[in-house]
Amino acid sequence: MTATSLECVLPDADATARLGAALAATQPAQAVVLLHGDLGAGKSTLARAWLRALGVEGAIRSPTYTLVEHYPLPAGGKGLHLDLYRIGDARELDFLGLDDAGATLWLVEWPERGRGALPPADLEVRLGVEGDGRRAVLMPLSVSGEAWLARLAGELRDLPVWGPEEVAPGPG
Ligand SMILES: Nc1ncnc2c1ncn2[C@@H]1O[C@H](COP(=O)(O)OP(=O)(O)OP(=O)(O)O)[C@@H](O)[C@H]1O
Ligand SMILES: [Mg+2]
Repeated sequence: MTATSLECVLPDADATARLGAALAATQPAQAVVLLHGDLGAGKSTLARAWLRALGVEGAIRSPTYTLVEHYPLPAGGKGLHLDLYRIGDARELDFLGLDDAGATLWLVEWPERGRGALPPADLEVRLGVEGDGRRAVLMPLSVSGEAWLARLAGELRDLPVWGPEEVAPGPG
């Protein structure tokens, strides 16, 4: 796949939340998203804003101890928010009795710890600290993810973005 990444600068937590909302506004009907980044990089901030933008009301807790939280989505389907930091082995996911029937959105923190036990992903978001803020690098992992990033670039007008649209065409 010709993976074209999109990058954006997130000067504060509100910018991370706006990226989450923009991802929600542009996501395909079915999406599996890997949220990479060190402790405190902003993965939960992004996931919370995303679920909120999809209309989830009430508390959106970080699944640090529960490993997974389930959210029925007002538009139909179900969102799963996972944080696999505390699992020792991807096989533990099977023992979780993960109720993924009808799941339309997977937001997975520390996905590297669940390798082999997660469905094929559409998008990877890498969050890293930059100064007082963060930087996000988004990579498509499926054909659906590629089209998604192109839509997303158009949604992020108010954030500094380097994205698929601006990549110079190669020679020829
Ligand atoms: N762009 C940003 N600039 C500055 N601070 C941010 C930004 N995005 C999020 N934060 C802040 O970083 C802190 C940690 O965020 P968060 O809990 O979302 O991280 P995390 O990646 O989920 O961490 P963990 O791996 O521990 O689950 C929060 O206080 C949040 O407000
Ligand atoms: Mg978190």
